[in-house]
Amino acid sequence: MPANRFNGFTEYGIGIGLRIPHYRHILEKKPVVDWFEVISENYMVDGGNPLAVLDQILEQYRVVQHGVSMYFGSVQPLNREHLQRLKTLVRRTKTPWLSDHLCWGSVDGRYTHDLLPIPYTWEAVDVTAEKIRHVQDFVEVPVVVENVSSYAEFHDSVMTEWEFLNEVVERADCGILLDVNNIYVSSMNHDFDPAVYVNSVPTERVAQIHIAGHSRYEKYILDTHDHPVIDPVWELYAQAIRRIGPTATLLEWDDKIPSFEEVHREAMKAEHFLQQVAKMPPALTAEEPVLEVAR
Ligand SMILES: [Fe+2]
Repeated sequence: MPANRFNGFTEYGIGIGLRIPHYRHILEKKPVVDWFEVISENYMVDGGNPLAVLDQILEQYRVVQHGVSMYFGSVQPLNREHLQRLKTLVRRTKTPWLSDHLCWGSVDGRYTHDLLPIPYTWEAVDVTAEKIRHVQDFVEVPVVVENVSSYAEFHDSVMTEWEFLNEVVERADCGILLDVNNIYVSSMNHDFDPAVYVNSVPTERVAQIHIAGHSRYEKYILDTHDHPVIDPVWELYAQAIRRIGPTATLLEWDDKIPSFEEVHREAMKAEHFLQQVAKMPPALTAEEPVLEVAR
C-alpha cells in the first residue's frame, strides 16, 4: 500500500462541525475537542462577529476548512476574487487541507447552491481535475474532494462514481474526503453495493472521513444531517478505516441541531472503531474481513 501523504494528520482524531448554536457553549465551557471543521464561506468576510468568534476558536483549537461553493465540476471559470478570499482565510486558519465537493452547481454565473452530481464522463474528468489542480496551486495547501450524496444519474455516464473519483484524484493529484454517509445514501438511491465503493477508494489519498445521519422516505433517502448516525453507516465507517487506517473523522450535524454535548457524544462513538483499528495491522486487500460493529 503506498504511503498515505495525510498520515501526519491521523492524530487529528475526531472533530465536530463548528455551528452557530454552539458558539456560546464552546467559548464559555471550552470543551475538549480534537478539532473543528468550519465552513469556509461563513468566514470569507472582512470583519464582524463570525470572524471574531473564529479567532477565539483558533486560539484554542485546530481548525480544518470545508467549502460548499467551489463546484469543481462546473465548466465556468473559477472566480479569482473568491479564490483570493479563500486563500486569505487559509492563511488565517492554517488549515492542513482544504476540502470541497466533487459536484457542479453553477452555470453562466448563476449559482444553484446545490451540490449536484457530475456526469461520469472522460470530459468531466478532465474539466474537474484541471480545476482542482488550479485551486490547489493557488491556495498552496492540499485540496481534498468529497463525494456527494445524489438523487439522479446521467445516461451519459460511462463509469461508476467510484471510478470517476479515482480518475479525478489521480489526475489532480489531490486528496479525498470520504463521506461514508453519502456513499450509503447514494447506494440506496441508485442500488449499488456501498462496500464495493469503499473498497475501491485509493487509501493513500484519504485525508478525512465524514459521518452523518440522514432521513429515509418511502422511495428515497435524503441526506439531511439531522439525525444520529445509523448502524449501516457505522459499519461502512468501520470498513473504511480498516482499509485506510486511523483517519481524521468528522461528524456533520446541520439541521435540528441538538446540544453541543449530544453532538459530541455522537461523534465520539467513532472512537470505538478508531481504537479497534489502531490495534490491528492495516488491511492489505479489499477481501480482508471488516470490523465487527459492537458498541
Ligand atoms: Fe459530508
